[in-house]
Amino acid sequence: MKAIKGNIIFTILPQKFEVFENSYLLIENGKVKSIERHLNEESFDYEIIDYKDNLIIPSFVDLHLHAVQYANIGIGMDLPLLPWLEKYTYPEEQKFGNLEYAKKVFKFLIRDLYDFGTLRSCIFSSLHKDATILLMKMMDERGLSAYIGKTNMDRNSNENLFENTRDSLKWTIDILDEIPKFSSRIRPIITPRFIPSCSDELLIKLGQIAEDRDIAVQSHLNENLSEIEWVRKLVPESKNYLDAYDIRGLVRRLNTIMAHAIYNTDDELELMKKESVFIAHCPSSNMNLTSGIMKAKKMLEMGINIGLGSDISAGDSLKMNDIIVDAIKASKLLSLFTHDESDTLSIEEAFYMSTRGGGKFFGNCGSFEYGSFFDALVIDDSSYNLKPDASITERLEMFIYRGDDRNIIDRYLEGRSLKTE
Ligand code: GUN
Ligand code: FE
Repeated sequence: MKAIKGNIIFTILPQKFEVFENSYLLIENGKVKSIERHLNEESFDYEIIDYKDNLIIPSFVDLHLHAVQYANIGIGMDLPLLPWLEKYTYPEEQKFGNLEYAKKVFKFLIRDLYDFGTLRSCIFSSLHKDATILLMKMMDERGLSAYIGKTNMDRNSNENLFENTRDSLKWTIDILDEIPKFSSRIRPIITPRFIPSCSDELLIKLGQIAEDRDIAVQSHLNENLSEIEWVRKLVPESKNYLDAYDIRGLVRRLNTIMAHAIYNTDDELELMKKESVFIAHCPSSNMNLTSGIMKAKKMLEMGINIGLGSDISAGDSLKMNDIIVDAIKASKLLSLFTHDESDTLSIEEAFYMSTRGGGKFFGNCGSFEYGSFFDALVIDDSSYNLKPDASITERLEMFIYRGDDRNIIDRYLEGRSLKTE
């Protein structure tokens, strides 16, 4: 049992920060029991950890990234999605047949996830089974939590990054059988790359595996206009892109992440709501590949679950502070074009998406409300904070816009400091 003291700030709902200045977070079994201004007598058996004037915030959740594209950040920002995949992305991913190379890249990625305070993430690996299992083990060793999926792709790639339908399914099942042997923090996720990469047979059988074993699903949706047109031709019987997944059994209630979701029809928005699909909003990627701007504010107001995704390496930064800022800036550009100020995201909403929004996919995470897992970052802002009378909210805003990993002095996952691991 721990009592962790400091300036506590988090969100429960998208519109509002909850602030507890100079207070104690009481932690039992890795979860938040209560927040107290003062300790009463029955709290005396708690181990007190006093972070003094520092901020205590929920740790970040990255709802969408490609581990196997980490070496490519900054390369190939001259093309839109489909030619970008062929020219830059597939040739990089094919290298992950080599485990030495995979280990080198994953080491850098995991170091940076840890440093930037992203303690939970939802990750696409490559199609390679061994590299995917290696990534799972390395993430687990560092004490980070993640959903990790072997990417399935049995059509429309190139001859060096290819799997047939049978191998794709076999390797997927092999990985599912492997995970329970070593990890509690690492969970599997069925990962069809996107409709153009997967045959009908593969999609249907992946849907069956997800159903039989109750496994989550992640994929891409409505990212780019040429992609959407292609999907229409590939699955002419579908009502729309999301329906193309749904009719194959790949929209699983509360257990599905779709990245991007920029160009949605009303029917798709309804289905997202009905099935509680999680949307990974990837503003940096959407700008880099000139994909478009997702209407994040309107979708939040509709009650759709939204988290933020770095979408490395279409996104150029793994640092969640940058993605929060990009989400806000993109929403302001959107409001200029729509002449509708209500398209603008607030700092509260963007921070919510980066913590609680994505955290819900992991269960009760991303907030400090009663019963949630204590996943937290301790922020020492003394290296740049020149405003002695700044409010706690202003200090969080300053951290998002100008802070970085040097200001994160401690990281907790499920109540345990990761420092000692
Ligand atoms: N759609 C299918 N594959 C990818 C990918 O690797 N990155 C992005 N941004 N979109 C995709
Ligand atoms: Fe992606």
